[in-house]
Amino acid sequence: MEDGGSLCGGVEVGRVVGTSTPLESIVDVRREVVEAGSLVAGSYVVAESLGGCVLGIVEAIRSSTEVFNVMSSSESVEWFARAVGEAMSNYTTRRAKVRWVSYVEPLVNGGRLEAPKLPVEPGGLVRLARPEVLERVFSPEGRRWVRLGRLMGVDVEYRVNVNALTRHLAILAVTGGGKSNTVCVLVRRIVGGLGGTVLVFDMHGEYGTLGLEGRAKLLSPAKLNPASLTFEELLELTRFQGTQQERLLRWLWIELKRLYNMGRLGAPDLIPRMMEVLGEAAKKASNHQALKRIFTEVTGFEPSKDPPPIEKVKERAMGVLSKLEDLDYEYRDILDPHTPTNLASIVEPGKLTVMDLSRLDEKAADAVVSHYLRRILTERRKWKATGGEGYPSPIIVVIEEAHVLIPAGEDTLTKMWAARTAREGRKFGVGLVMVSQRPKRLDPDVLSQANNKIVLRMVEPQDIRYVQAASEELSEDLASLLPSLNTGEAVVMGSMTRLPAVVKIDRCDARHGGGDIDLVEEWGKLGGGEDFSDYF
Ligand SMILES: Nc1ncnc2c1ncn2[C@@H]1O[C@H](COP(=O)(O)OP(=O)(O)OP(=O)(O)O)[C@@H](O)[C@H]1O
Ligand SMILES: [Mg+2]
Repeated sequence: MEDGGSLCGGVEVGRVVGTSTPLESIVDVRREVVEAGSLVAGSYVVAESLGGCVLGIVEAIRSSTEVFNVMSSSESVEWFARAVGEAMSNYTTRRAKVRWVSYVEPLVNGGRLEAPKLPVEPGGLVRLARPEVLERVFSPEGRRWVRLGRLMGVDVEYRVNVNALTRHLAILAVTGGGKSNTVCVLVRRIVGGLGGTVLVFDMHGEYGTLGLEGRAKLLSPAKLNPASLTFEELLELTRFQGTQQERLLRWLWIELKRLYNMGRLGAPDLIPRMMEVLGEAAKKASNHQALKRIFTEVTGFEPSKDPPPIEKVKERAMGVLSKLEDLDYEYRDILDPHTPTNLASIVEPGKLTVMDLSRLDEKAADAVVSHYLRRILTERRKWKATGGEGYPSPIIVVIEEAHVLIPAGEDTLTKMWAARTAREGRKFGVGLVMVSQRPKRLDPDVLSQANNKIVLRMVEPQDIRYVQAASEELSEDLASLLPSLNTGEAVVMGSMTRLPAVVKIDRCDARHGGGDIDLVEEWGKLGGGEDFSDYF
């Protein structure tokens, strides 16, 4: 049955039973409503409370048959069920747990959330919210609202507020849950639809240019100019241990970077010159003072400072040299001195840049990601301070496999810069999107800084509890929904959505891959049509 045209109208669902609070009620749901499939977990309902019409989300639906609880054997259950037959459903109660989120009027007319102050009284009639009402809440007009998919259970477009991304976003799910698909949908709408700037760190080389040709650049592999490296990044890439070697490398690096900054040395010469000084030192440096002379001979310039007092200089120089040789060999195509040093020439404003990290190990990926995070944050800060220097565009940075680069209980360079970006990004227009299938291994501080969350299918109870601890809006009942979600279905929370929503995210076909590989098909291509039927 449906009523007239008010905001509080809609198909009747059932009546409030038991004790009600302004924030939640239990609703006895009519059988035909459940059978028709029109009420699902995630549906929105309306009811008249003592303070006006309120909108709520169905967090859980439960069926129970009390009479079975007093039966002591499975025989008696079987007997009863047979005897009652078709009428069994008369003994069954269907209860929905509803969380009331806001008065409808301010939400629909001003997009403003106003928490209910008074309860819906027991006996109160609850109805399915009308699609027209939901559209005004979940499909607002305006360029900042971009489509992510549809609300679950109704034909209503679901949009998110892109401006809220500077309060960061975590996209979490089991593997294959639809995380990268979600990134694909968001990025295509932001770059293709809004001309936004996005940088994606692609750990598996699966993104390509997301079909945004002309508006996208793929760096495969990701590249760094050695002249833009910090000493810490260089250490990370060379995997240094041992303080004496580190002191020698630091001195040499600082002196050569000084010559580079003064224009006396080109970027392509930085690492070769370093190796040359070390090679000479390994041959003939009798003590650390001799290093100074060798440096001057090789570069043609005196160092600004004396070398640190290092014992056994020849052996140490040899050790550092061999690490640099490894670096040169392993990362030749990443450390490219011809990479522009100007950030805007690498990560072009108004475009998508995808950095393919699939061929790098974790340490190297950490060095690359932290390098760009550091530069983006510092340059955006500079832009804000000067209004003309630094990086000119707000930017969204997507980090796939975030639990590897921003792990709990372990320090990485990316973690340091991600934490800073999470804290300060909002002021400077830098939004962080962290994608992970192992939420409990993700640093809890950085995760809790992500005000927005898109949580797709998740089954592991520890992961679910961990995410709950980091997000106030994920109630026990909403969390219990997560294991039953299908691929691409998600709970969306945070300031990017007007209300927490259960959503079916659009499918994005523009990626290289992500689906499971069809083993049988792939092997079949190798087998060349032989008949294997004897083996079945
Ligand atoms: N919203 C959706 N609608 C339809 N299909 C989807 C949707 N989301 C994901 N899929 C499909 O499910 C598969 C896995 O999706 P996706 O690669 O996004 O998962 P993932 O969570 O990123 O997995 P992984 O942890 O392995 O990176 C893909 O084949 C994809 O096309
Ligand atoms: Mg993925």
